[in-house]
Amino acid sequence: MNERIVIVDFGGQYNQLIARRVREAGVFCELLPRTSSVEKIKGKVLSGIILTGGPDSVMGENARKAIPQIFELGVPILGICYGMQYIAHEFKGVIGRGKKREYGRTTAYFTEHPLFEGLDDNTVWMNHNDSVFELPSGFESIAHTDNCAVAAFANEEKKIYGFQFHPEVNQCKNGTRMIKNFLKNICNLKCDWKIENFTEELIASIVEQVGDGRVIAGLSGGVDSSVASALVHRAIGDRLTCIFVDHGLLRKNEAEEVLAFYAKEFGLNIKHVDAKKRFLDKLKGVTDPETKRKIIGEEFVRVFEEEALMLGGADFLLQGTIYSDVIESGHHGSAVIKSHHNVGGLPKNISFKGLLEPLRTLFKDEVRQLGEALGIPHELVWRQPFPGPGLAIRVKGEVTEERLEIVRESDAILREEVAKAGLEHDIWQYFTVFTGVQSVGVKGDERSYDYCVAVRAVNSSDAMTVEWAHLPYELLMRVSERIIGEIESVNRVVYDITAKPPGTIEWE
Ligand code: XMP
Repeated sequence: MNERIVIVDFGGQYNQLIARRVREAGVFCELLPRTSSVEKIKGKVLSGIILTGGPDSVMGENARKAIPQIFELGVPILGICYGMQYIAHEFKGVIGRGKKREYGRTTAYFTEHPLFEGLDDNTVWMNHNDSVFELPSGFESIAHTDNCAVAAFANEEKKIYGFQFHPEVNQCKNGTRMIKNFLKNICNLKCDWKIENFTEELIASIVEQVGDGRVIAGLSGGVDSSVASALVHRAIGDRLTCIFVDHGLLRKNEAEEVLAFYAKEFGLNIKHVDAKKRFLDKLKGVTDPETKRKIIGEEFVRVFEEEALMLGGADFLLQGTIYSDVIESGHHGSAVIKSHHNVGGLPKNISFKGLLEPLRTLFKDEVRQLGEALGIPHELVWRQPFPGPGLAIRVKGEVTEERLEIVRESDAILREEVAKAGLEHDIWQYFTVFTGVQSVGVKGDERSYDYCVAVRAVNSSDAMTVEWAHLPYELLMRVSERIIGEIESVNRVVYDITAKPPGTIEWE
């Protein structure tokens, strides 16, 4: 990699979108916590810095700050919203609070500037209370709106720029172009980064990290762990052993299907561990979602440790952690939404030298592209995601064999019907949930008081935001009839029509 942008995270809602846009524009980038060290920010290459938006006011006592050295690294800087105000504040400009918050689409008037080259629309998207009232010395305004005199500024000598609006959101019509202009015209980058070209680099860094050590991988059959394992296998060959843990929380027939698939398609060294009983024992009586996740994360690691011992030792534990896991597990000081077990759910005391997480900076669709580049079969790469804690987080309340059976069977019916309708590859993720709710119904001629199963189907590209899928009514009808007809203790099926946000994909 010879071009790299660092995005310094001030806690804004759209930060991962900035990262998406930069990568789509062809430059590798990393979203780093604002407290990251200079060395971490500089990395091996640093071509420019973007400062994100954030919820604070720079005038507040506890306003988030970046390390002061970022202004001395000799690379162009672009501040977005809070990032811009932060720059103005640091360079002794005056920030003030407008009469009312400026929110939503608005028209901007741009000066002629390389940042605004080739724009064919003036719509920008605003979301701010504070504005730059007086520019710091050396800065000039390069855009304004009816409500905001300084909608963008520039200090050409220092190559520091700011946008009050959010170029990363879709509503800012030419935002992607502006980001590309920053990368091309200001940072002078070639913008030729592609995930396929990144493979060799990832492999080299795995070789460097692992040295002549041994690695154990948790292979779940999901996309992330498969791509991670294929990648590490390329890097270190047989020093990788994959462990397939059957925790009893898998979908119907999953263990058999996954193992058959890997045996046929890959030269991977795989060991199958039947750990059903120990996981279910640990989950007995547990109802809190986060506790379930932590218990499962811990138990996974204990299984891997035992397996490593039996193999005569392993130095690293390979995890298929991807970027959304990192972001949503509160890595950047933002709120912990849920502890994805491969990040926040892992116990602190693990007996491996370290974790190996080669996909940690990649978004789901990038992981899939990488999988294709590595020659992993299409049908595996495009499999729907399945969470590490498995069906345990699709059973509300205590996880029991009876409840698991209800999710397993209803999920199998849903998958079968989706496949029959030819929609398997059109829906990003779909599954059923044991809601724990019981309701009154009539089955046969009898009153019933049975369980309610929810069907969830969503579309997304990276799991960060999702829309509920508009499944055909006929399909929903067949699924509902079959679930109620074939599963004794279910008398009601509901369809979950919640987007993310405000919902999440899984119920727990
Ligand atoms: P949520 O429910 O957070 O899910 O919107 C986002 C995506 O992540 C999957 N998921 C997980 N994957 N370990 C994983 O490997 C986990 O603990 C975990 N929790 C959720 C979920 O299925 C969805 O694709």
